[in-house]
Amino acid sequence: MNDTRPTTDYVMLGRQLSALLDTRDWVTNTSQMAAFIFQQVPDLNWAGFYLQRESRVLRLGPFQGQPACNPIGFEEGVCGAAARTGETQRVEDVHAFPGHIACDAASRSELVIPLIKEGRVWGVLDLDSPLPGRFAVEDQQGIEALCQILIEQSDLPDLSG
Ligand code: SME
Repeated sequence: MNDTRPTTDYVMLGRQLSALLDTRDWVTNTSQMAAFIFQQVPDLNWAGFYLQRESRVLRLGPFQGQPACNPIGFEEGVCGAAARTGETQRVEDVHAFPGHIACDAASRSELVIPLIKEGRVWGVLDLDSPLPGRFAVEDQQGIEALCQILIEQSDLPDLSG
């Protein structure tokens, strides 16, 4: 564990995000959320969404940061692992993760949360940091709670049809 990691008030961020997502439109809400997280969560170099727009393939969605890799299969990278398993991937050192896809050489740690709607992976939220070990369990729980707000306050149609 790295004691120098910043702490973030995710309860407050949740209230702010809930107010910000004042439409049920998924394009608007994912765009707003990517920008909100990128601004409010310290020490990120990328924040955004990959969406399952065809079966077992993630396509780049709204994001903040450098242009990114696209597409990402379910068998590829940290994002694919989150989509394939349906479980959050909290990676302290991306260089130690087999198959990690380096979109930005500056990235050192990563948090990827699957967005699951009615048992189906709709997409993932991906956060990258230039700091090793940036994401603590508390960050994972806080960002997962923000993802639940997105899921509850948005219409997330099946995009893979
Ligand atoms: N590092 C990710 C790819 C996406 S970028 O970080 C924006 C991965 O390994 O899936």
